Amino acid sequence: MTLLDMIPSLQPAMLPRLSPAIWPRGTEYDGAGRITLGGVALTDIADRFGTPTYVLDEAEIRARCRAYRKTFPQARVYYAGKALMIRAVADWVIAEGLSIDVCSGGELEVALSAGVDPKRLIMHGAGRSCDELTAAVRAGAGRIVLDSLTDIALLAASPSRPQPVLLRLSPGIDVHGHPAVRTGVLDQKFGFPIGSETAAEAVRRVLARPDLELVGLHCHLGSQIHDPDHYGEAIRRLVGEMAWIRREHHHLLTELDLGGGHAVAYRPGDAELNLTELADIVEDALDAACARHRFPRPAIAMEPGRAVVARAGVTVYRVMSIKQIAGGTTYVTVDGGMNDNLRVALYGAQYEPVVANRRPHGPWMTATVAGRYCESGDVLARDVRLPADLHPGDVLAVPCTGAYHHSLSASYNCVGRPPVVAVRDGCARELVRRETTADLLARDIGR
Ligand SMILES: Cc1ncc(COP(=O)(O)O)c(C=O)c1O
Repeated sequence: MTLLDMIPSLQPAMLPRLSPAIWPRGTEYDGAGRITLGGVALTDIADRFGTPTYVLDEAEIRARCRAYRKTFPQARVYYAGKALMIRAVADWVIAEGLSIDVCSGGELEVALSAGVDPKRLIMHGAGRSCDELTAAVRAGAGRIVLDSLTDIALLAASPSRPQPVLLRLSPGIDVHGHPAVRTGVLDQKFGFPIGSETAAEAVRRVLARPDLELVGLHCHLGSQIHDPDHYGEAIRRLVGEMAWIRREHHHLLTELDLGGGHAVAYRPGDAELNLTELADIVEDALDAACARHRFPRPAIAMEPGRAVVARAGVTVYRVMSIKQIAGGTTYVTVDGGMNDNLRVALYGAQYEPVVANRRPHGPWMTATVAGRYCESGDVLARDVRLPADLHPGDVLAVPCTGAYHHSLSASYNCVGRPPVVAVRDGCARELVRRETTADLLARDIGR
């Protein structure tokens, strides 16, 4: 027997709340107890577009872009498209004054087809093909980040306007996250280790090329970084490197791109990066490093992806079955899973699913939300609190699924990828339609 069973008068005070730390602003329960986002009930979306569906709150994304512009008025803020690259999002972030970071020919095409001015694009990435680099140069991309000596060679095949480029360095900073997301350390696949002979060789080769204009340095320290001091340290190290290039080559670099990695909360209590604190640290570190090396202040750029779109996204699922293993776990199986949310399997990410079609009053059970796919590791959330009377047909919503969910989605088991539906001012509209079996068959051309 729970406390609520014993003292029913406690019930109103114990009603679940939607933490503003993980839900888009303005998310609330309506009079019927349904969760609404952007003025639209999630159950209405589930009924109209099916499940699973990614729901995206346009106002939340726009507000986050404005927060970046306001906090970093002098910096160039690139939205890292890899977090969620669809045309509508490209439109919104550009309209709010951001630029866009693309990392493949495909992302480049999406941005261009959304009408983004190519000068507002930066392209980087490991292992880009000659065609992808050439497409970026031909399109007139504002900046290209060089990741390897091969990139420099491949760019020789591109049209010969002087292309502004940055060199990506790994500054040797360990942000202590999951091994898959620590990209500031020296021994990893991206960029050139700072101070290494290959980095020096890359500088020499780029400066010797009249078709390339080396304008600055780039780094990306990793993901889910909540301690802004890491960015201060990156500035100190990279300004030192810029000063070395000036001494060695009499070439002045004017731009410093600090990459992305700004942490967001996936569950209440998770640490986030505070933008105001980051702005203070960036200013202080620039002052100190530039004074120390007598180096003119470079223009700062940054590339947040997750922090722009993660909290705007909510995924809705339908409960398909509930299974209690005697003496073991209670499994709530939903109609999605690892195909639409790879982050659990990839990084051990943790989420807080809630029932969205009714406001539960308790009692509660501890359950594991499992996906429908044929992998025992296909789990969305382990040991979470859900209403004990949950039943097939209920709608579950998982907040903070706007970043690296749709963009990492797959069609394992020949199940098509979910649609993306935007909500705003009480209206829902489909931005990306559901992938159908016919779509999958259309690619299956052999026999
Ligand atoms: C070079 C670069 N910039 C920016 C980002 C965006 O990171 P986040 O979405 O964590 O801000 C990434 C993510 O992998 C990246 O590799």
